[in-house]
Amino acid sequence: MSDGSMEVPVSEPAARPSAGVQPAGAGPRQEATGRAAGAARDTDVVMRTEDVTVTYDGIPALRDITIDIHRNRITAFIGASGCGKSTLLRCFNRMNDLIPTAEVRGSVLYHGEDLYQPGVDPVEVRRHIGMVFQKPNPFPKSIYDNVAFGPKVLHMKVDMDEVVERSLRQAALWDEAKDRLKDNALGLSGGQQQRLCIARALATSPDVLLMDEPCSALDPIATGRIEDLMVALREQYTIVIVTHNMQQATRVSDMTAFITVELDEHDNRTGTIIEYEETGRLFSQPADPRTEEYVTGRIG
Ligand SMILES: Nc1ncnc2c1ncn2[C@@H]1O[C@H](COP(=O)(O)OP(=O)(O)O)[C@@H](O)[C@H]1O
Ligand SMILES: [Mg+2]
Repeated sequence: MSDGSMEVPVSEPAARPSAGVQPAGAGPRQEATGRAAGAARDTDVVMRTEDVTVTYDGIPALRDITIDIHRNRITAFIGASGCGKSTLLRCFNRMNDLIPTAEVRGSVLYHGEDLYQPGVDPVEVRRHIGMVFQKPNPFPKSIYDNVAFGPKVLHMKVDMDEVVERSLRQAALWDEAKDRLKDNALGLSGGQQQRLCIARALATSPDVLLMDEPCSALDPIATGRIEDLMVALREQYTIVIVTHNMQQATRVSDMTAFITVELDEHDNRTGTIIEYEETGRLFSQPADPRTEEYVTGRIG
C-alpha cells in the first residue's frame, strides 16, 4: 500500500478526553514514542480490523476483512449495493450489536484495543467513534438539545453552551443556527439537519467519525457543503465514509477500499475487499481487474 501523503504532519485535537475504551498509556502519543523504530507507520493507524467476518443469521455477509484506518485521513468504502459497505462500517463502533441476527468475528482494534472484547462498553465506544447516517435523523428536539444530547446522557462534565457552540461551528452550522438554538431541529433543511447530526456526533469529542452515505438524501449544493465539511474535519478527525458515488470518493477521500461480492466455498455471496489503496492510485491505476471494471464501468 503506498500513500504518498503519509509524511504530512498530523496533530491531535487539543485536550482530547482520555479514551475510556483504551488501555492506560496506550494513547497515540505514547504509541509514537514507545514503539520500536520501523513501526512508525503504525502510529498513523487509528483503527484496524483483523480477519473480520460478519454473518447475518449465520450467513456471511463479509469475510476476512483486514484493513487499517489511518489518522486524519478520509477513507472511503466503495462497491455495489449489498456488497457489505454498511456492515463493515458498523463494525467500527459496534453498531452491528443492535442487529440481533448479526455476529461479528475477528478483531476490531481502536488504538490497539479490541472493541469486541468482553467488558468494553459499546456506548463508550460510540462516544469516541461517532456515526452519521444516510438520512438525517435529528431528534424532535431543539437544535441545542440535539447537540447536547450525547454529553448529557454520558454525564460528561462540560460547559454545555461551549460544547454546543464548538460543535455547531465545527459542523459549519453555527452562523445559521445561533439565533434559533431553541427552535425545533426538524425545521431545518435537509442539509442543515445533516450538519446538525454531524455536530451531534462531534459533541462527545470523538476522534473517529463514521459516515454512511451521508449525502445520498441531499441535493448537490447541500452535498457540496458536507463534502467541504468532511475535508475540513479531516484536520482533526479520522473519517470513514461509505459512498456509492465514485466521484465523491475521488473528491474527498485519501484512501479507498473497493469491496465486492464473491461466492464463498458454500456458494454464499460474501463481500470482500478487493483493493485498498490511496484514492488517486486506486482510480487511475487499479491493480485488480475487478476494481478497474468497477471504477471505469460506472459513473456516480
Ligand atoms: N439487518 C440485516 N439482516 C440480514 N441481512 C442483512 C442485514 N443488513 C445487511 N444484510 C445483508 O448483508 C449484505 C451486505 O449489506 P450492506 O452492508 O447493507 O451492504 P451495502 O451497504 O454495501 O449496500 C447484503 O446481502 C444484505 O442483504
Ligand atoms: Mg449501505
